Amino acid sequence: MIYKVENNTKLNGTIKINGSKNASLAIVVGAILAKDIVILNNVPNITDIHDLLDILRYLNCKVDYNDHILKIDGRNVVYKDLRIDKIKKLRASYYFMGAFLALFEKVNICKPGGCNFQNRPIDIHLNGFEKMGAKIIETDNEVCISCDNHLKARQINLSFPSVGATINLILASVLLEDTTVLRNVATEPEIVDFIMFLKKMGANIDGEGTKTIIIHKNNRLHGCTYTIMPDRIECGTYLIYGAALAKKLTITNIISRQVRSLLSIFIEMGIHMEIRENEITIYETNNLKPVKIVTGPYPSFPTDLQQVICPLLLKADGQSMIIDTIYSKRISHIEELKKLNANVKIVDNFMLIDKSDKLIANTIKCNDLRGGAGMLLACLMSKGVSYLTSAELIERGYQDIVLNLSSLGVHIERIIDNEKI
Ligand code: UD1
Repeated sequence: MIYKVENNTKLNGTIKINGSKNASLAIVVGAILAKDIVILNNVPNITDIHDLLDILRYLNCKVDYNDHILKIDGRNVVYKDLRIDKIKKLRASYYFMGAFLALFEKVNICKPGGCNFQNRPIDIHLNGFEKMGAKIIETDNEVCISCDNHLKARQINLSFPSVGATINLILASVLLEDTTVLRNVATEPEIVDFIMFLKKMGANIDGEGTKTIIIHKNNRLHGCTYTIMPDRIECGTYLIYGAALAKKLTITNIISRQVRSLLSIFIEMGIHMEIRENEITIYETNNLKPVKIVTGPYPSFPTDLQQVICPLLLKADGQSMIIDTIYSKRISHIEELKKLNANVKIVDNFMLIDKSDKLIANTIKCNDLRGGAGMLLACLMSKGVSYLTSAELIERGYQDIVLNLSSLGVHIERIIDNEKI
């Protein structure tokens, strides 16, 4: 898919943020542990969710998704090998490892897909499962996990606070008959939301949002109704679009404290805004100051927003710098920006971004979901008509982005047939 984008206007209006993609992906998989009926509100209508629901149907779950409300009936969930193509389409499919270990004490699964901006190992997940007594056979494309004896509750120190590994180890532990302690875990809000959901299903867990999580023994899970938290990365993305292009843009249905690291950068840059608990308004600002951004685990600046903010930094009066300590090779957007006449370069692992006020439209490519969202902003900032290819990657994570931008006054068109450009 291609987006045809014209820089024609200042953004003006309001955007309502959807439910969190990454929290939903974990929670939807977690729902099968109840073997009951779970109703989830505020589930975003994005392709990653639809791909995940296809996997649930394959496992004999009844799934009904309408108007952001998802009903999952997992009473008849069955074990099947997960060596299927859908698994390779998204990163979050690795949560079936933890969930299947909890339900069936085994899983044969393809390695997860999703954004492949660099090698994304899953050794911390697998080491954790191994400590719980699982036997692992790993090939280039697949992982087979089994238990000679039963899976055991353990005390596990993660070598790095990985989001995925934290959730996967909670999934594997929550039905065990002894208490599990996970240390050096990730503290991202999506993990807190996931644990709040498990608690609503009856789990007894302590420590969410801290570096140590205790999963108490003998959890009896049951169905529930739960509302997914707002998407802080979607929120951050539109805030950045607003900082670059708005006359006046209001972002609603958010939890402002979850984007504090981005707001600190905005304050340093001198961006005019009004911050309320669940709503932020951004106003047109000139004379932006350059900044240095270093990504890190929450509450530091999220890696998922560094590619998005990169084009905004082209407007600052001086040289800005981005260092991604989470994914140092998440840099393919830099080559695309150069095609628009942007003054950007990479020195060692630093992305250096100099003021470039004469961006010129061109055909550029989305290499991954968040990079795509960044490139869309860059196209909107470039003089003329740009074509953004592989735009379907953006729709893995941003519901109705074309409609949203159109409602703010942008000329943007979705071209499904590539021949038309
Ligand atoms: C999740 C998010 C993704 C986000 C990332 C970091 C989902 C579906 N995806 O991805 O959007 O960019 O958090 O906030 O929620 N690592 C290892 N071994 C492992 C696991 C991770 O070395 O077993 C490393 C990674 O290479 C990376 C760092 O740890 O350098 C963080 O990765 P992690 O937090 O696991 O990211 P994901 O869960 O894959």
